[in-house]
Parts: sequence; C-alpha cells; structure tokens
Amino acid sequence: MASVKLRRLRRNKQIRDLVSETQLSIKDLIVPYFVIGGKNKREPIKTMPGIYRLSLDNLIRDIKEIKGLGIKAILLFGIAQKKDVKATEAYSREGILQKAIKAARKEIKDITIISDVCLCGYASGGHCGIVRRIKSERKNQNEFIVDNDETLKILAKVALSHAQAGADFVAPSAMMDGQVKAIREILDNNGFPNTGILAYSAKYASSFYGPFREALGSSPQFGDRKTYQMDYRNSDEALREIEQDINEGADIVMVKPALSYLDIIYRAKQKFNVPLVAYNVSGEYSLVKSAAKGGLVDEKNIILEILTSIKRAGAGLIITYHAKEVAKWLKI
Ligand code: PBG
Repeated sequence: MASVKLRRLRRNKQIRDLVSETQLSIKDLIVPYFVIGGKNKREPIKTMPGIYRLSLDNLIRDIKEIKGLGIKAILLFGIAQKKDVKATEAYSREGILQKAIKAARKEIKDITIISDVCLCGYASGGHCGIVRRIKSERKNQNEFIVDNDETLKILAKVALSHAQAGADFVAPSAMMDGQVKAIREILDNNGFPNTGILAYSAKYASSFYGPFREALGSSPQFGDRKTYQMDYRNSDEALREIEQDINEGADIVMVKPALSYLDIIYRAKQKFNVPLVAYNVSGEYSLVKSAAKGGLVDEKNIILEILTSIKRAGAGLIITYHAKEVAKWLKI
C-alpha cells in the first residue's frame, strides 16, 4: 500500500498556502465604531486599548483610512448625549448616530453602512428595551420587566430613522421577540424596501460584553440581560432564534459572541443558507490585547488564528475591533 503522508502537504509555506482551506480576507471584516458628539474628539476607552470614541470629523477620517486598506463595511454605535426612560434620542433625526450615518453616506463612496438598533445606550435603565414596573405575583413587591411588545414599536422607529439617514443595513441587537418583523414592516411601509436587516439573532447573555458597556456607558442599572439574551448552555435554541429571524425577513444573521460559540456558528452554517456574520466582541478583543501586552502571547499570530477559526467554523463575515490592524497585515 502506498504510504499516506499528510506531512507532504505541510512541507513548505508555498504548499501549505496552496492547499489551505480557509482564507481570511479583508473583505470579510466589518469595523465597529463608537460615535460621540462634539468636535475633534478621540476618547480612549480604558478597557479596550487602541479603540476610541470618535466625534464625526474623526470618524469620517478613520473610515477613509480603513477604506483605503480595503475594508468594505462599518457598524456604527452612537453614544447618547442624554438618556431617558423612553430612549427618545435613539430615534431622533438629530441623534448622533443618525448624523453619523448621514455624514458617512455623504462623504464616503462605496462603503456599506450598518447601524446598531438598540435602546441600551439611550434608555436610562441601561436595558435593551423599555422597562416597566409590575406587581410581582410571587413576592409582594414591585418588579421591573422589559416590555417586549412596547419595545418593538420603539425599535421600529429607531430603524426607520437610520434608514432615512441612509443606512444600508439596520442591525437590531435588543433580542426582543418579533423585532425583525416589526422593523421589516415599518421599512416596507415607509418606502425603504431596499434597506436590509442584519439580525443579531443568536445573541448570548455574555460576560464578554464587559468592555463594550464601558465604551457605550450601557450597563444595566439593575438586574441583567438574561431575560432576553440567550443562555450559554443552549444551542438548539440558537437555531430556533435564527430560523425565526429568517422567517421574519432577516437578510443576514449573526452569532454573538464568536470565539466561545464556534459550535453555534458551525451549526448555523450547516443548517441555513443566508449570509452569516460572527461578532468577535469587546471582551474577546481585550483579553487578547492584555495578554499580548503582558508578553504572554504573540499578538499578530493569535489574532490571525482566532479570526481564521471563526471563518473556518462558517462565518462569512466577522465584526471585529481588530479589523484595522488585520487589514494592514493582510495587505502586505
Ligand atoms: C447592545 C450591544 C451589546 C454589544 C453590541 N450591542 C452589549 C450588550 O448586550 O450589553 C456587545 C458588543 C461587544 O461586546 O463588542 N445591545
């Protein structure tokens, strides 16, 4: 019998490159941005070394730079000036995110603009939906709940305001049941049939979001997000969430976080044939940055290994705070 030697395929870099099954490329990367009011601002985020909150002028400058590196898409988050119980700034025409979408649309050609649709950065309670007080049945005291259906109406208004500002895709991340349907309807009824929906479909209640909440100032003021985000012990349920979003009209679906959820990405890719994006979230980013700073790992190699593994699991697109540095490495 002829000898099988898989090592023949690994003999040198040229052959390894020739037979490699997964290619991480610049066009797979989506850059998240945090936008603030004011001028010429570039506020460092303590828990996310290398990431900043940018005012509009600096945002536009930075987008031009990443576009020059070959990046094709951005995801925008706004930092509210003032929060209130109804999250009114989230759907204001003059909101910072609406202004950012408009400016990016006007000043930069051929960049895909995705906007985050959620209330947590705008609602005073720091929850992704509208909070209501009810009388608890079990304990004789008041209890706070996130009102799913009341929230849908607001999320729809937020999404419409982003579409009006010029977003290509709106990205609902509140994990409210029916949010994709509510958004699809309002977009269709108001003349935006071509604005797409990138749904945060399988979004887990995760400790990996810690640094992001510092960036956005969006930590819940009481309780946690476990009544609407997914339980990390479950994976069948993630497929049901994704299926539901596809049925409601999602064009692109997401699994989030990415690295601890490669099995979910893999199952979603096997089962569904819509574009799949993974969110390499803030905690994943900051863990790598702090390990690299401490000299514990080789930064470039570990980032490329992580992102390639996310792609190998089945994600076609990756939202990542590493995007700019990776684009520079992949370019040469
Ligand atoms: C809010 C939202 C979160 C992230 C994106 N949108 C955090 C949360 O649910 O608290 C996390 C992103 C990251 O950690 O990078 N709906």
